[in-house]
Amino acid sequence: MSERLNGTDDVSRPRLSRRALLSGGAVVAAAATSGAVVARASADADDTVTAGRTADPDVNSPRATAVEPFYGAHQAGVATTPQAHAAFVAFDLRAGSDRESVARLMRVLTDDARRITQGQPALADTEPHLAVLPARLTVTFGFGPGLFAATKTSDQRPEFIAPLPAFGIDRLKKRWTGGDLLVQICADDPLTVTHALRVLVKDARSFAKVRWTQRGFRRAAHSQQPHTTQRNVMGQLDGTVNPVAGTPDFDRAVWFAGEQEWLRGGTTLVLRRIRAEMETWDAADTVAKEFTIGRRLTDGAPLTGAREHDEPDFARLTPAGLPVISEYAHIRRAHVADPGARILRRIYNYDEGVSPDGTADTGLLFASYQADIARQFIPVQERLAEADLLNEWTTPIGSAVFAIPPGCDPNGWIGETLLS
Ligand code: HEM
Repeated sequence: MSERLNGTDDVSRPRLSRRALLSGGAVVAAAATSGAVVARASADADDTVTAGRTADPDVNSPRATAVEPFYGAHQAGVATTPQAHAAFVAFDLRAGSDRESVARLMRVLTDDARRITQGQPALADTEPHLAVLPARLTVTFGFGPGLFAATKTSDQRPEFIAPLPAFGIDRLKKRWTGGDLLVQICADDPLTVTHALRVLVKDARSFAKVRWTQRGFRRAAHSQQPHTTQRNVMGQLDGTVNPVAGTPDFDRAVWFAGEQEWLRGGTTLVLRRIRAEMETWDAADTVAKEFTIGRRLTDGAPLTGAREHDEPDFARLTPAGLPVISEYAHIRRAHVADPGARILRRIYNYDEGVSPDGTADTGLLFASYQADIARQFIPVQERLAEADLLNEWTTPIGSAVFAIPPGCDPNGWIGETLLS
């Protein structure tokens, strides 16, 4: 194995601790002790930082220090109530990667994730003070098609962990498409996301190269009542019809239960970067905007109902005999009757600023989780690609597909069911 692949080409002192740790074999157990020492050594430089708490009462507020559990049957970041900020980063594994090197990478990244999600600095964290406010940080890992090829585990890859079929509406750009390994980072604080991204990218870089990074946001945490449906950058309430965590329908819709045993308790992610054509959307009037979706802009109620969660009546006709909710309205085309066969949309907005001519570079990071991409995601996307009024104002420009392995317990690491 080349020097670049064994994660040791960065020769700062804390790195040497990590090298010793990794060559020791019992990685997780050793990390539990040595890690604490390194974290303490860095944190001692400023005695206001101890074990994930600071002396400042404001930043000890429940919001800033709120923690999402790391261990469990499922990885966090899927059923978790969406945090306000997200970064999705995809890596390409370096040439020569194999099962052993990817397993080592996953042990390192799991160790980082379990610490920083709990408000503890990562091992050899160069900015340990940024770790103390996790703000519900979750780190979720995903495996793209190339990872299975590199680790010679393609016989364990569900067929649908592959690039999606080409859709007529796609204008995909390479810079937002594909990837061997995904790290999804979500937290209610954007600086926490930045720190986590930095930690994970640094620790991955001798194993893998960043392919793309996509940042997204929702309404600020606590700006609305819990369970209020958020609005996207186009101004629509987005997320009304979605599986609800903790229900049997959610479990059936989201958690993988197919033949590949290693993925049971995991799920799959389709991440589509969809540009919103705001110049022309702004020119549409409210009637046109509501007709396009089939719901009202004010409160998200279907055009046939009074409240957001009323069932749409797709059969209702206008006095002129036309459907109230158009044949080509987004909600009609996207609707799936069986609640246990729906996709879980956990979307973020993106905004990359405005070009000198005033055009906004904005849209959705459309993150869709489902047990089965072929049965759940693709049929919906096919219907939308074929005919959806919304296509006039939206353009998919990125696409990536990942298997999201199950969670792990304190003696395990993410990906071990495939790679160990
Ligand atoms: C920029 C792109 C998109 C925008 C702005 C958008 C917006 C919306 C809005 C406003 C709703 C109605 C409220 C709700 O139930 O959340 C909705 C529903 C839905 N969308 Fe989208 N959407 C987009 C892309 C997609 C894509 C790519 C898919 C799947 C391939 C999709 C699948 C769905 C589904 C399944 C529903 C629920 C339909 C139902 O009522 O049963 N959407 N979307």
